Amino acid sequence: MNQIHDYKLIASDPDAVAILSKLLNNPDNFTSGSELSSILGVSRPAVWGKLEKLRDQGFKVEALRNRGYRILEKPLQHNAQLLEYETLAKGCAIPCLYFPEIDSTNSEAERQISYGRKGPFAIVSSHQSKGRGRLGRDWFSASKENSYLSVAFEPNLPAKDLQAFTLWAGIYICRALQKLIPQASLQIKWPNDLFCQGRKFAGMLTEAKIDADCMRSLIFGIGININSNPQSYPDPLKKTATSLQALSGTEYSLNTITAELIHAIEHAYEYSILGNPGESLAKAWSPLSSLCGQSVNATSAQSSIRGTACGIEESGALLIKDATGAIHSIHAGDVQLSK
Ligand code: BTN
Repeated sequence: MNQIHDYKLIASDPDAVAILSKLLNNPDNFTSGSELSSILGVSRPAVWGKLEKLRDQGFKVEALRNRGYRILEKPLQHNAQLLEYETLAKGCAIPCLYFPEIDSTNSEAERQISYGRKGPFAIVSSHQSKGRGRLGRDWFSASKENSYLSVAFEPNLPAKDLQAFTLWAGIYICRALQKLIPQASLQIKWPNDLFCQGRKFAGMLTEAKIDADCMRSLIFGIGININSNPQSYPDPLKKTATSLQALSGTEYSLNTITAELIHAIEHAYEYSILGNPGESLAKAWSPLSSLCGQSVNATSAQSSIRGTACGIEESGALLIKDATGAIHSIHAGDVQLSK
């Protein structure tokens, strides 16, 4: 039975996005009220009203008589119009639905598809009450300094290897974030954890609906710790998790990071599900892998294998060499560094 949810959706205001596009693409110069009023097709007092609303949302807008407006500061917290502006500015046309609070962005993406919304679209939230992790685990989602998002696609194509898609998404995400955080080396722990300096800062969860071998929906979710302080995390995570700010000392815009992620996920989908990445997964993975050459223990419902991680196959399976020299392909399960 369908459950009715009343999570608040903050839709972006197209006029506000148009104002941001004009002002942020021209950050050092003033744009006159009459130019904004002709772009929007509304009166100058209406433009003023829109700018006041942006001020209420944390934008610092300078206004000078006879010159016009320019934006001096943008909010670092999630903001529906800024998120849309930033994704569009990257050439990514995936619409974003922003929910300040939600149970799980993956669950909301599923619900939106069941209500008839067509993919691709992104669900973004600042707080999840039932964030889901891999293998039925919970995902700590209580910090408004982090971002929780899911991108939903409707491939309607024969089911391709989903594991490779998650790995490609991790690769594109790491490459995009590494440009913003050059001081720390970002890594991926097979199959779905983003790591840095031995601590996890993001987790990915891919869920799909497949019927008669056709992939109807593909929902890729990621939770990423951005500006949160690891000391505020629940006890078991304090020592194992980190955030981008803790790693770099820089406070990031949640909108910029979220837009980068959506863009990277779009690339992963276009290249690995719709087309061909044009590079080998094993080769792209190798410089980013946190496990290569390490002693590991891989456990699944069926078995446990101890050995040295030595790369991945093109399918995305992890390769482990055991003490006898035999190589095992691990397709699913949990991998830990051996003590
Ligand atoms: C893991 O490391 O176990 C995967 C964690 C995935 C968490 C993200 S947060 C956004 C999306 N919504 C969820 O409920 N889970 C994923």
